[in-house]
Amino acid sequence: MNILLLGSGGREHALAWKLAQSRLCDKLFASPGNPGIADHAELVALDAADHPAVTAFCEAQRIGLVVIGPEAPLVDGLADSLRGQGIAVFGPSKAAAQLEGSKAFTKELCARHNIPTGAFARVTSEAEGLAALARFGAPVVVKADGLAAGKGVTVAMVMAEAEEAVREIFSGRFGEAGAEAVIEEFLDGEEASFFALTDGHTVVPFGSAQDHKRVGDGDTGPNTGGMGAYSPARVLTPLLEGEALERIVVPTVRAMAEEGMPYSGVLYAGLMLTKQGVQLIEYNARFGDPECQVLMLRLEDDLGELLLACAEGKLATRQPPRLSAEPALTVVMAAEGYPGTPKKGGSIAGIDAAEAGGAKVFHAGTALADGQLIATGGRVLNVTARGASVTEAQAKAYAAVDLLEAPDLFCRRDIGWREVAREAKG
Ligand code: AMP
Ligand code: GLY
Repeated sequence: MNILLLGSGGREHALAWKLAQSRLCDKLFASPGNPGIADHAELVALDAADHPAVTAFCEAQRIGLVVIGPEAPLVDGLADSLRGQGIAVFGPSKAAAQLEGSKAFTKELCARHNIPTGAFARVTSEAEGLAALARFGAPVVVKADGLAAGKGVTVAMVMAEAEEAVREIFSGRFGEAGAEAVIEEFLDGEEASFFALTDGHTVVPFGSAQDHKRVGDGDTGPNTGGMGAYSPARVLTPLLEGEALERIVVPTVRAMAEEGMPYSGVLYAGLMLTKQGVQLIEYNARFGDPECQVLMLRLEDDLGELLLACAEGKLATRQPPRLSAEPALTVVMAAEGYPGTPKKGGSIAGIDAAEAGGAKVFHAGTALADGQLIATGGRVLNVTARGASVTEAQAKAYAAVDLLEAPDLFCRRDIGWREVAREAKG
C-alpha cells in the first residue's frame, strides 16, 4: 500500500527509514519531510491544517495509511477528518489527543480514574493561580494548559519563581495555550519515558527511554525539546514497567474508551519514579523526539504492520513488537543559539563518513541549498548508534559526531551519563 507520513523532524526521518523497509509499503510519501526523509520517500507539500487538501491527496494517491508524526495536527483533529473519509490513520482523534493538548484534561481524567499522578489545581486567572501556589508551597510546578512547544512548564524551587510563572501565563505569553494553567505538586525522583502502542483496547509496551531536556552538559542551562536520549531506560525495571502499564497506561486507555474517546496510536507516558511509586508527569499523543530515533534503531519488527494494526483496531491479532536487547543512544546536534534563536545556514558535511562506522544520522532541521546540506532549525541532526551497552552505543555515537563537518552545530558530550555511570558501577 501507499503510506503518507506527516512531519519534518528527526522523529519523522526515523519513522520514514523504518516505514520504507515495511513489507506493506509500496510507495512512501512524506510532507513536508526533509532531505534525509527524501532518501526514503517522495516529498510532497501539503498543508496539514488544510484537512480537505490532505484527504484529497490521500484519495488521489490511494493512501492506505497516514502516519501523523507531530502533536499539532492531532490536537487539530486531522485524524478525525481522515477517518471520516475512511482513511486509516496512525494517531489519536482530536478528543483523545487532549491527553497531550490539555494538561488539565489529563489531570482530571487521572483523578476520576485513580491514576497515580501529583496533586493539582486548575486555575483560570492570576489571582486563582497565586492562591493555589500559597496552598501548595514551594517547590511547585506551574504549567500553561495547552500546547506551548515545551516552553509552558516552570519547575519552581522557590515561590517567587512560581509566582512569576503564573503572572507570565496570564499576561498572555502563551496565547490560547495560557488561557488556563495547572499548578502541580512537585514530584521528586528520576524521570523515564515509557511508550505503548494501542488501538483503543489492546495495549502493548513499546519500550522505554530517557531524554536529556537541558541544553548543557550535566543537565544545566535552559530546557530544550531534548538534546539526546537512550533506550531502554533500565531505571524503569521490569517491575516498575509493569506498574506503569497496569496502574497508569492501561487504566488510561480503558478510561478513554469508557468515556467515549478511544485513544489509538502511541501513548508516550512521561513518568517520575518516586519513593511512593511510579507517577505520571504527563502524556504525549505521539512518539518522542528524539526518543523515537532510539526506539526505531532497536525495533526488529515491521513498523508499517504495527502502525496499521493500531489504526485498524487489530493489535490483538499480532505478536507484541520486538525491540533489540541492545541499547541505542542518540546525540542531538543543534545550531548555535538553540534553544534561543538558532543560527541558520551552517554547512553540514561528512554524514557518509559518520555513518561508515555503523551509526545512523537522522536529519531533523536540514535543507539543501544549491546542492549543499545546511542547517535550518534548532535541532539539526540526530547521531544515533546501537551497542552492547549504553557505554558502547555512546562511544559509537560520539565517534560519528566527531566525523561530521558542521562547525555551526554543537551537542552535549554526556548523553546517557546516568546509565553510563550505572554501567561503570556494574
Ligand atoms: P512537561 O512539558 O510536562 O513534560 O514538563 C517538562 C519537564 O518538567 C518534565 O520533563 C519534568 O522534568 C518537569 N516536570 C513537569 N511536571 C513535573 C512535576 N509535577 N514534578 C517535577 N517535575 C516536573
Ligand atoms: N523529547 C521530548 C518530547 O518529544 O516531548
